[in-house]
Amino acid sequence: MSVLSVRYQGETAIVTLDNPPVNAVSEEVRKGLVALADKLDEDNGVAAVVLTCAGRTFIAGADVREFGKPPVEPHLPDVVTRLEQAKKPWVAAIHGAALGGGFEIAMGCRFRVADRSAKVGLPEVTLGIIPGASGTVRTPRLTGVEAAVELATSGKPVSAHQALQSGVIDKVVEGDLLEGAIAFALEALNHPLPQPVSARPVETRDEAFWEKAKKQAARAGYQAPLSALDSIRFASRHSFDEAMAYERQTFLDLRASDEAAALRAVFFAERAAPRPAFFKDTKPRPAARVGIVGGGTMGAGIASSCLSAGLNVVLIERDDEALARGRQTVERTFAGAIKRGKLSAEGKDTLMSALSGSTDYADLGRCDLVIEAVFEEISVKRDVFKKLDRHCRPDAILATNTSYLDPREISSALKDSSRFLGLHFFSPANVMKLLEIVPVPETADDVLASGFALAKQLGKVPVRAGICEGFIGNRILKRYRAEAETLVREGIAIADIDAAMRGFGFKMGPFEAQDLGGLDIAFLQREGARAEGAVIPETLGDILVRSGRKGQKSGGGWYDYADGDRTPRPSSAVSDLLAAQVTNGPQLDPEEISERLVRAMAAEGEAILTEGVAHSASDIDLVEIHGYGFPRWKGGPMFWKDQRLRS
Ligand code: 3HC
Ligand code: NAI
Repeated sequence: MSVLSVRYQGETAIVTLDNPPVNAVSEEVRKGLVALADKLDEDNGVAAVVLTCAGRTFIAGADVREFGKPPVEPHLPDVVTRLEQAKKPWVAAIHGAALGGGFEIAMGCRFRVADRSAKVGLPEVTLGIIPGASGTVRTPRLTGVEAAVELATSGKPVSAHQALQSGVIDKVVEGDLLEGAIAFALEALNHPLPQPVSARPVETRDEAFWEKAKKQAARAGYQAPLSALDSIRFASRHSFDEAMAYERQTFLDLRASDEAAALRAVFFAERAAPRPAFFKDTKPRPAARVGIVGGGTMGAGIASSCLSAGLNVVLIERDDEALARGRQTVERTFAGAIKRGKLSAEGKDTLMSALSGSTDYADLGRCDLVIEAVFEEISVKRDVFKKLDRHCRPDAILATNTSYLDPREISSALKDSSRFLGLHFFSPANVMKLLEIVPVPETADDVLASGFALAKQLGKVPVRAGICEGFIGNRILKRYRAEAETLVREGIAIADIDAAMRGFGFKMGPFEAQDLGGLDIAFLQREGARAEGAVIPETLGDILVRSGRKGQKSGGGWYDYADGDRTPRPSSAVSDLLAAQVTNGPQLDPEEISERLVRAMAAEGEAILTEGVAHSASDIDLVEIHGYGFPRWKGGPMFWKDQRLRS
């Protein structure tokens, strides 16, 4: 069966594209659209054409799976032009999302109508490319340069309402979209047709505009947003045809780039993550009411995340004071969301009304799932789980958010460990996308599946991790920091290491990040292990903490900080403290430094894979990208290392 079909209603031909899951524009779709445009042009009974899509969305873009292969004719820009040149006006009827090539096809149509919940956008930069079928050339002609720059460089879609306001679409249809689109098409035939988008004039903007936009686009840290901007700028100064040629060449160059390959790999890894093969047919247990024990940094963040996803939350604390603090933290999170325009005051009230608090574990009796986030101490945690065993329904899932403790030592406090698993959230838990899911040997399949289902509900990226110290992420972090310390011992300046990692794409280098989070947490952990007999050589961080340098909170760590200022300043006190540990080896350039550190991360990742702690290299990459700020456009340490080996 063809992906495209036509039916007729009076003088309107209704073309339906049905190419699951998201109606991506494959070779078959491109060929089919051209053939239909030819056929309908010759059909005297047809006055207008409505292009609609089956399933959950209008066209979500070019088929990303074709990007690794050579382009095949007809190319998408030619398809868009063919629709624009159709003798009968085409009307795009948009539901779901018209993205990238989907939006470009809509721009080839003479009109665009959408239902209220639809979105349109040019997300190509998120795949390391720029629009390749007139997105940077037609959009400024349709909606002006400024709106085009925002769409193409941010990659963020806009709502139907915003699209109507900026002239991207012609109408928001209330009620049935197809009926509305047909009515719109017939009404439009009563008036002279507007010019096709390609024939419309394009505005020019002064140098100051482009300079400002360039600074903004550069903030993303990688090439595609800058190239998208450059292409729009070119389009604002050249003919349509010249601009199309320029855009296409840039698109093809970027499509073949390392950044695009990395971003594509991440795109597919993220979509594969919530549905791992190992529990394909297992049904998760329901999780509508969630209990959270401990309302500190993590508990309050997890509560906010659950509430935002529409779940009911029961928060348990040690006493009324701690409970009030936890509740305030959740309130503050939502107040921040209101400030940023992400939540309304009424929305906040609704979310807060789904939160109840208690100091009595008996109030967890109706919960489907309970997540423990109390102090990182085995005796405290075991005590909590014994109480949970007494008070929770026997089928309720019980989870720990421990970072470093062995989940098996916690679960053994339960009568039935099959309902136990680790759910390792990252701080701030309402923001960070990563969720490491750590089963113990007894964890039931449907309990494990429920962890993944919860992640999906919360909009998180789930990764299954085996049991070892630090699971996947913190174990790699430890190796990364150790390698960074080795560089310092070899005589590389702390500030040079941080700068090199920022240059690589991290928001912060390893030492700045430790100063922000505090050096004492890892120190205490090492000390705890030493007290139990583990042989852990003294780290440079230990030397700093022992002399009172715990990071920003103590006025200094790896760097000095002036009062009330978070700017890290290289510290002569640190140089003195560490002098005896440092030998002066050869200096490294920034690429050599980042190479050393990312290779160390990848080597630890290899060990983790070999031990079966992670199931795939792409899972490790997702952990690093969504939990530790690894630059997405480098694909994660495992992808980066493989790319290096290939080149
Ligand atoms: N090509 C191929 N497959 C795609 C795709 C695309 N453009 N977009 C989504 N898919 C696939 C996903 O891989 C997934 O496949 P799977 O079920 O086998 O894992 C399936 O469609 C569903 O995707 P989601 O889980 O993301 O579905 P949602 O309903 O949550 O979201 C969506 C739908 C908002 C359309 C989202 O999929 C999306 O944002 N897709 C990417 C859109 C995009 O980036 N478009 C631009 C492409 S580049 C382009 O068009 C270049 C042009 O200018 C020439
Ligand atoms: P926190 O100290 O901010 O909060 C712990 C809370 O638990 C406190 O509010 C305390 O009153 C409460 N509490 C202690 N015993 C309790 C009990 N018996 N019953 C009810 N409440 C009790 O600690 P944080 O940072 O939130 O950490 C919690 C857990 O999450 C730890 O296991 C930690 O390792 C883990 N974690 C922490 C991350 C972080 O970045 N802070 C990241 C990921 C996991």
